[in-house]
Amino acid sequence: MAPYTLRWGIISTGWICTQFTQDLLVDPKSRSVSDVSHKVAAVGSRSVESAQIFINKLKSAKDDDGWSWGVNNGLLDDTKPLGTYDEVYNDSDVDAIYVGTPNTMHHQCAKAALLAGKHVLCEKPFCLNSAELEELISIARSKNLFLMEVVWVRFHPIAYALEEVLRAGQLGKPQRFFGDLSFDNKMDTQDPSSRLLNPSLGGGSLLDLGPYPALWAMLLLHRHPLNQDKNPKLLFSHQTVYERTGVDLNTRWCLEWKGLCQGLLSTDLASFGLKTGSIVLQCEHGDLLIDYPPYRAESFEIHPKPDLASDKEGVQKASRHHHPIAPGNYGMSYEADEVARCIRDGRQQSDRMPWEESLLVQGWFDQIIRDGNTKLKDLRGTEGQ
Ligand SMILES: NC(=O)c1ccc[n+]([C@@H]2O[C@H](COP(=O)([O-])OP(=O)(O)OC[C@H]3O[C@@H](n4cnc5c(N)ncnc54)[C@H](OP(=O)(O)O)[C@@H]3O)[C@@H](O)[C@H]2O)c1
Repeated sequence: MAPYTLRWGIISTGWICTQFTQDLLVDPKSRSVSDVSHKVAAVGSRSVESAQIFINKLKSAKDDDGWSWGVNNGLLDDTKPLGTYDEVYNDSDVDAIYVGTPNTMHHQCAKAALLAGKHVLCEKPFCLNSAELEELISIARSKNLFLMEVVWVRFHPIAYALEEVLRAGQLGKPQRFFGDLSFDNKMDTQDPSSRLLNPSLGGGSLLDLGPYPALWAMLLLHRHPLNQDKNPKLLFSHQTVYERTGVDLNTRWCLEWKGLCQGLLSTDLASFGLKTGSIVLQCEHGDLLIDYPPYRAESFEIHPKPDLASDKEGVQKASRHHHPIAPGNYGMSYEADEVARCIRDGRQQSDRMPWEESLLVQGWFDQIIRDGNTKLKDLRGTEGQ
């Protein structure tokens, strides 16, 4: 049977849109997929020239670039460069919109796309606050459209492998979780108007990096077979203000899944995370350590407890496990496949990344910002507009 082909409209032409679009052009067979495929129907930018440059750059792929397959197979031949985002939302050749604009624009772009009858995959952080997200969900629900936040890691080979480890039960009950995503971003050398530093673009470590420790906490704790707490609580949080622009330089927060365990999460724009163990789940019978970077991890280790624990039932020997992203794929192709399958099957949300879980994470971010002292406290959402 011919694969179901999803026709994408790409909103904006920055870094992440480039990665995502390149992945749409990689041969699905490279990741053993034959039931769905992708086409780039239109690219929207604030200027038509920039949209055309974006397409031209993709077309100039070298032979060893993973996406050269799509270029050589004509997947960009009919791609329309459009000089406004609205033209993409209203294009009848487009089925689904990928939103890759700065954080403060996610809600308005996704809302406009949904109102024009398009399915939406929206970059993280999904929205600026829960009110914006609730509005998007309500529109998607009423118009029977698919809507999902980009949480690409949930669809990576390592995520399925780790679920299997937890399901097998060898590690026992979780006792502690630590999750971190940090970069030494040399903040003092950066342009204060840039996306990361600018509070009016939703900058700072929490909104930029926070979705990653959060997604691992959701995967390893919230979706743990022993978890019964559907409403984990934020126990406390701290944000360090970067005085030059008023965004958060770092954020630390603690969550509790009642009856399971607590998790300590952190993000930092002034230090790199650990090479092995940026994400750690300590369990009764052994510990799980996931490699850096948490947004594209391909390996994890399982370690026995320290000798002092003398746990006869527990993990006795350390082991290392490798679950690579398929060659030529940056890693965003897996979630694009999920979107295509959901839309093909008439589903509004993905079971692996449901609305309820995005709402939970968005709720923590609301509370952390409310309790902190950054300029993001003054940022208003665009819900209702
Ligand atoms: N999933 C991930 O791992 C990941 C990684 C990086 C970034 N992201 C997310 O992706 C989004 C974009 O990040 P990026 O690094 O791709 O940013 P970027 O390179 O700056 O691109 C953003 C694009 O948004 C458009 N835009 C519209 N209004 C803008 C404005 N006022 N200021 C700046 N740009 C504006 C521009 O495209 P046009 O000129 O074509 O309109 C610009 O190229 C953010 O929400 C970020 O959190 C996700």
